[in-house]
Amino acid sequence: MFRLTGTNVPMLGREGVLQRLLRGVAKPAHQHLQVVGPRFAGKTIVLRELAKRVISAPSPYTGVLTWDLGHQTPETNVEFMQQFSRELAAAVASKHPAFVDDLRNPTGNPYHDIAGVLELLSEEGGKVLAILDGFDKPLSNGRLTRTLWDQMRVLAEKPALCIVTSSRKTLRELILHPDAQTSDFWNIFDPTPIRIGPFDDADMDALLAKMPDLSFKQGARTELLNATNGFPVMVLEVLNTLIGTRATGGDVDATEVVRACEEALPVLHDKIGALWLDCSSTCQDLFLIVRDQGPVSRAGIGNADIEALHERGFAQHVGNRLQRASRLVCLYLDGQGTTGTSLARLFGTTEGYQHHLVGVLERRTAQLEGLDASLRRFLERAARDLPEDPKIFMTNVRGIVDQVFELIWKAELPQSRRLPSNWMDVWKRNGERRVEEWETTFPQGVHRLHLLNLMTGTDRSLRCAKYVTKSTQVLMNGVHAFGDFGQHQEGAPIDLGTAYAALHLCIELAASVTRELPAAS
Ligand SMILES: Nc1ncnc2c1ncn2[C@@H]1O[C@H](COP(=O)(O)OP(=O)(O)OP(=O)(O)O)[C@@H](O)[C@H]1O
Ligand SMILES: [Mg+2]
Repeated sequence: MFRLTGTNVPMLGREGVLQRLLRGVAKPAHQHLQVVGPRFAGKTIVLRELAKRVISAPSPYTGVLTWDLGHQTPETNVEFMQQFSRELAAAVASKHPAFVDDLRNPTGNPYHDIAGVLELLSEEGGKVLAILDGFDKPLSNGRLTRTLWDQMRVLAEKPALCIVTSSRKTLRELILHPDAQTSDFWNIFDPTPIRIGPFDDADMDALLAKMPDLSFKQGARTELLNATNGFPVMVLEVLNTLIGTRATGGDVDATEVVRACEEALPVLHDKIGALWLDCSSTCQDLFLIVRDQGPVSRAGIGNADIEALHERGFAQHVGNRLQRASRLVCLYLDGQGTTGTSLARLFGTTEGYQHHLVGVLERRTAQLEGLDASLRRFLERAARDLPEDPKIFMTNVRGIVDQVFELIWKAELPQSRRLPSNWMDVWKRNGERRVEEWETTFPQGVHRLHLLNLMTGTDRSLRCAKYVTKSTQVLMNGVHAFGDFGQHQEGAPIDLGTAYAALHLCIELAASVTRELPAAS
């Protein structure tokens, strides 16, 4: 008997996915690929195997790099390029040692050095496969800008570079800033991501074949799927438990699998918990419906929620139905006591409050009809960052501020941000501060707050805005302060309660402009 999890486990199953990746990168006009799947689905395992096979078998590649961006996450454009350069240096060291020095000690922004080396590599018939694992992290901190992605686009167009990214969401879903979204970098990827979710039948066959001394009866295999829907960590831990409790090989029946699932729960508890928290609250509601009512028709249900449950093995999506709520997840929830909705149970303790408040705020966001798409993206993203990552959430508040100001200017100042002269006359006459400067330059940064204040009325000047009111201005004042704080954290610890207060303000600011401004045509 042997264990299926632990350090340095070989890849089990996944041959189908791996072949797709190998074919994709082997084409002469290779495509850049994105691998997408939830946490623990096995993206890193598959990509490590990809790297191994590309190096060991005949392939067009003379170097492979696997850059773990989830753990050493560059904070700025320059840091990103510097780390990329070092990773490239290591990848080309054995076949193209002459380039190593240039790449290893980058000074300033090494973009031009990298571009030069990639040109020379092509001339030598070399080619590098760059596997960027955990690409969510750099995209979620909101500090890397369009300039970087445009440069990456130029590098990726060189024949000597092929990129494979892995992330929990598609790249398009991850890019936060409207500005970065417009970079052409995102267009170079094969638009159909390679999805890593539950094991399919072939994967399960390959896995069970690793345990030739055990014979799984049909009922046993069915129970394994009822409990896990084939999601890797769950399947593997249940099988480990089963192996651990047996002295010999032989037949495995359904009852034994059911027992193994129950025994595996403590080991899986935290992982299932993390996967559950990654689901949006509407997705969690959907799971509870499938659990309580059995198969549901997909008509009228959001695709994203269906896909989120399926890719985690929480439920199975076949045809037009969502069914088979995972028994392990049901057991986990029974233990959590989330079956009821009593306020005391959900919010009675500090941990409960911290755990569940995000779901309340998420539902509030879902209620906002006509919300600007970019604001919705920011708010949904925030709900994914809390409660785990208040720091990252705070960094992104500035993006919300910028977007709300953009929407206000667009509605109130149709003449491409020129302040109407009648407003200016009144403000000057009333002795409002700083107004003269605005004759030549449109207010930026914190001065935008001052403008919004004047537009919505002060003790000297009446309101002249057509749509926005004082309540938006007051909310903006609060959010703006948090936005500044988020940009200048200087290592200060961010309290989760404070982050929640900021998120609530952000949501109500978004609600307020959505209510007040005319709907975008
Ligand atoms: N095909 C597989 N073969 C063997 N073990 C696997 C496989 N898939 C997943 N596992 C197990 O699941 C664990 C999590 O896999 P992995 O780290 O690759 O997930 P991931 O998709 O990269 O998650 P994250 O988004 O958190 O980076 C592995 O440590 C391994 O134990
Ligand atoms: Mg990983």
